[in-house]
Amino acid sequence: QRHLISAADLTRDDAVLILDTAEEMARVADRPIKKLPTLRGRTVVNLFFEDSTRTRISFEAAEKRLSADVINFSAKGSSVSKGESLKDTAQTLEAMGVDAVVIRHGASGAPYRLANSGWIDAAVINAGDGTHQHPTQALLDAFTMRRRLVGRDAGLGHDLAGKRITIVGDVLHSRVARSNVDLLHTLGAEVTLVAPPTLLPVAIGSWPCEVSYDLDSTVPKSDAVMMLRVQRERMNAAFFPTEREYARRYGLDADRMAKMPEDAIVMHPGPMVRGMEITAEVADSDRCTAVEQVANGVSIRMAVLYLLLGGNEPAVSHTRPPVS
Ligand code: CP
Repeated sequence: QRHLISAADLTRDDAVLILDTAEEMARVADRPIKKLPTLRGRTVVNLFFEDSTRTRISFEAAEKRLSADVINFSAKGSSVSKGESLKDTAQTLEAMGVDAVVIRHGASGAPYRLANSGWIDAAVINAGDGTHQHPTQALLDAFTMRRRLVGRDAGLGHDLAGKRITIVGDVLHSRVARSNVDLLHTLGAEVTLVAPPTLLPVAIGSWPCEVSYDLDSTVPKSDAVMMLRVQRERMNAAFFPTEREYARRYGLDADRMAKMPEDAIVMHPGPMVRGMEITAEVADSDRCTAVEQVANGVSIRMAVLYLLLGGNEPAVSHTRPPVS
């Protein structure tokens, strides 16, 4: 059984293979007819228990470009709202003969449970679980960094050794930050997290990265600065930071961006809250790769689906339970 549950499960070679395969997939997207027959006759379910714009749409685009049969399931409007469990939902899908399940869930560990429960035989791909992991986001971010910081062709076969990546904001609630730290460390990058102390996990000392509370001193030493949204929906209202104070200390505006090295990029996984962690001027600047990241997400998700369901090379195997 092969799944993609956590970026921490990927070796350097796994990750480079996915990035290189995504470059091949991107060439398909550049063609007038953007389809491959690879997954013809295979069925993929997109099982979304939490809201999504980018991930859900780009998985669907990736599946359709690989000619899979696609079933979209949203918890809203399904029998989940009547109290149906994940097990019964999974077994309903199994009865329909699905080959892969792309799952987003509010509970950390739900994709791991699905993959290891014996409820289904399908490959499981984590599209974001609670505050735990979002491995395809980390892969598309690494793909974007490799293209911009190493080069589209020059990057083939290469990792991100020595690249200095700064991740800024609500690390505590961010599966994107956790996945990126895991993957970027595997790919040889040097990661620094910048966040208010209240928005860092207690166990941050065990993460393979540096921590700073001073964005102004970190920005000039960064090849990429990735801004994170403050996830108010996962916070008690009493802990909301005030917008103006947060933006002043941890937001990226044009003055701070001007202190970045000349070729350094600004990244954001989306959704962005303009005026909070990033100003509109920075979000709309040429240095911001947010839209490019979305486009790259289709290539990465095609690569993951291809390697899990259609390719000959083993891409990913899940061996460890999720970090709590
Ligand atoms: N980056 C990301 O996961 O966005 P969505 O929540 O819109 O899928």
